[in-house]
Formats: sequence, C-alpha cells, structure tokens
Amino acid sequence: MSFNNQAIENYEAISTRYDKMIYRRCGKSGILLPAISIGLWHNFGHDDDFTNARKILRTAFDYGVTHFDLANNYGPPYGAAEENFGRILKKDFLPYRDELIISSKAGYDMWPGPYGDFGSRKYLMASLNQSLTRMGLDYVDIFYHHRPDPETPLEETMKALHDIVQQGKALYVGVSNYPAKLTKQAAKILQQMGTKLLIHQPRYNMMDRWVEGGLLKELETQGTGAIAFSPLAQGVLTNKYLKGFPKESRAVKDGRYLQKGNITQEVINKVHQLNDIAEKRGQSLAQLAIAWLLKDKRITSVLVGVSSPKQMIDNVRTVENLSFSKTELNKIEKILKS
Ligand SMILES: NC(=O)c1ccc[n+]([C@@H]2O[C@H](COP(=O)([O-])OP(=O)(O)OC[C@H]3O[C@@H](n4cnc5c(N)ncnc54)[C@H](OP(=O)(O)O)[C@@H]3O)[C@@H](O)[C@H]2O)c1
Repeated sequence: MSFNNQAIENYEAISTRYDKMIYRRCGKSGILLPAISIGLWHNFGHDDDFTNARKILRTAFDYGVTHFDLANNYGPPYGAAEENFGRILKKDFLPYRDELIISSKAGYDMWPGPYGDFGSRKYLMASLNQSLTRMGLDYVDIFYHHRPDPETPLEETMKALHDIVQQGKALYVGVSNYPAKLTKQAAKILQQMGTKLLIHQPRYNMMDRWVEGGLLKELETQGTGAIAFSPLAQGVLTNKYLKGFPKESRAVKDGRYLQKGNITQEVINKVHQLNDIAEKRGQSLAQLAIAWLLKDKRITSVLVGVSSPKQMIDNVRTVENLSFSKTELNKIEKILKS
C-alpha cells in the first residue's frame, strides 16, 4: 500500500486499511487492539509541525492502526497534544470515531497546587473532564491512572476509575507503571465493584525488561492486556544513532527524557550487533525490536512514537515478519545480556 497522498483538507481513509494489520485481544475482553499502536507523547506539541502530526495519524489509520494513545500532560506545553489531537479529530477522524480506540491518562504533574498530581478522586475526575474538553470528545475508550500514588489509598483511585466508567466518560480503564503486586490489588478492587482492569501500560523494550520479572505473569492471570510503551527505547533501538547524533533526533532536539549521555558506546555496540541481525532478516532494526516484543502473546500491542509518516510505515510493516528462529532469539539474548 502506498502513502495516502490526498489533498490535506480532504481526508478519506484508504479502503484497504484493515487488510494487513494484525489485531490482538486485550486480555480477556471484547477489545481487539492493533499489534502496533501510536502514541502522541512527542511530536504533537504546540511547537511541532501540525501538518506533519496530521499526516502521521492519517498514515497510521490508513495502515490499520486504530489505537491513538494520549495523556493529559503530553505536549509541550501540558495539554497541547490533546488540543492538537482534538483539532485533527475534528478535521479528519470524526467520521471514523467508532473505528478508533482513544486513550488518555492522569497521574503525573499537571497543574499547580495539591489537586493536579498523583491519584486522588479530585484530580482524576477533573483531569478527565479537561481532557475531554481539549479533545472535543464525550468519552475516551480507555482512561488510565498514569502511575502509582504512594499516599492516596488505592481504593480511592480505583473507585474514581470505576465511577468514571459508570459516568460513561470512559468505556474501559487501565493502569500504567504499576508493579505486579499493586496491579493485582488494583484489579481485585475494581473487580469487586464490577469493573475490569482492561489493560496495563508498562515500559518494555529489549533494553528494559522489568515486566518479565512478574508483571506479565500477573496480567495473564488477571486476564488483563498489556501495551508496551517506548518499545524502541525512544529511538535508541533503531538505526538512528549508529553513526552519531542526527540533528533531527529526539536526543538532540529534546533532551528531557532521552539524554545523549545515556546513549553510550557500549549501548551503540549492542545496537550495531542487533542491527546486523535485523539486516539478515531483511528488516529494519525498529521492526526487529517491535517483532521481538510481539513474540510474547501476552503483549497485546506495541505502542510506538514516530516523528514522521515514513517511520510510521516502517513500524507497521513489522507485521510482515513476526517469527523468529530459535537461533535468532538466542543470538539476540546473548547480545542483550553481554
Ligand atoms: N505510560 C507512560 O508512562 C508512558 C511513558 C512514555 C511513553 N508512553 C507512550 O508510549 C508512546 C511511545 O513512546 P516513545 O515515543 O518513547 O516510543 P518509541 O517508539 O520507543 O520511540 C519513538 C521514537 O523513536 C524514533 N523512531 C520511531 N520509529 C522509528 C523508525 N522506524 N526508524 C527510526 N526511528 C524511529 C523516533 O525518534 P526521533 O524523534 O528521534 O525521530 C520516535 O520519536 C508515547 O507516545 C506514549 O503514548 C507512555
């Protein structure tokens, strides 16, 4: 399939959009998610190119990516990604609303004072109302508590999620960055109220494998799906940094979360070896990194970020080759553990 080159003001989704994408069931639920989803953490702020952002989402949808992931504080500034998404939705995606799973979150610092952070009922309810206004939506499909709150009773946070579903402002709820034990407790509290913990959103990539230490097993037990964020380690697990630091890269343009200092020669040596394996498979390294996550059936979806439609296409094409030989997996394991 080629890039949808319609005039920018007239978007009509390509009719073949569901032909190639793979959809996986999200735990024990009625929801299927695309194997590859798109997140709006970066590249959708007010300083980013709006037309590029719009093209990224169109390309995603044209390739069957039905899940767009947001949060209250994505920007910069906070709220900007939801505002821009709302504009794009209005221009391009309103006819397709029922073909989309749109998520948002609250849990990190959002507004000043004691009610704009962590996990109180006050914060979650107010934040979701703000998110809906910014996006121009009546409801989100999934609303997440973005990170654990060590001080608010878990019962209060989960009751807020349950009530949000009862109010019809979210169809499903999830948690993000929760460790295994807390996830188990959260799922139980929700279940007692009659709400299912649909999904967990943890960081998971070849270089950060904490979820293998018990979380994935717990999610399977609960019948909760998993969507892996930062699957490319913010771009490190691509061929981008193999020959230095490109001007147009996250590490150079935006040092807030991906610092140049963390992309050491040791890391790059491993990336080179992984890239060799990817080349032998006829894949890009990004595709190898995504396929490696999807080999585990407990991973419902892999949540990528992209800075261009071209990267989006590269990533969705991962579904063309998802299988690994034992030899390949052993080689990858050896590199990762070296
Ligand atoms: N729940 C949470 O706490 C949490 C935290 C972080 C993220 N998330 C979610 O996860 C999403 C993805 O996170 P992320 O942006 O860190 O994901 P990522 O996929 O690991 O990194 C995205 C970056 O990788 C580079 N890239 C992507 N595809 C590429 C390709 N095919 N070839 C070369 N480079 C490629 C781009 O970097 P350049 O910009 O340098 O081109 C892109 O901006 C976020 O948007 C958000 O929805 C959630």
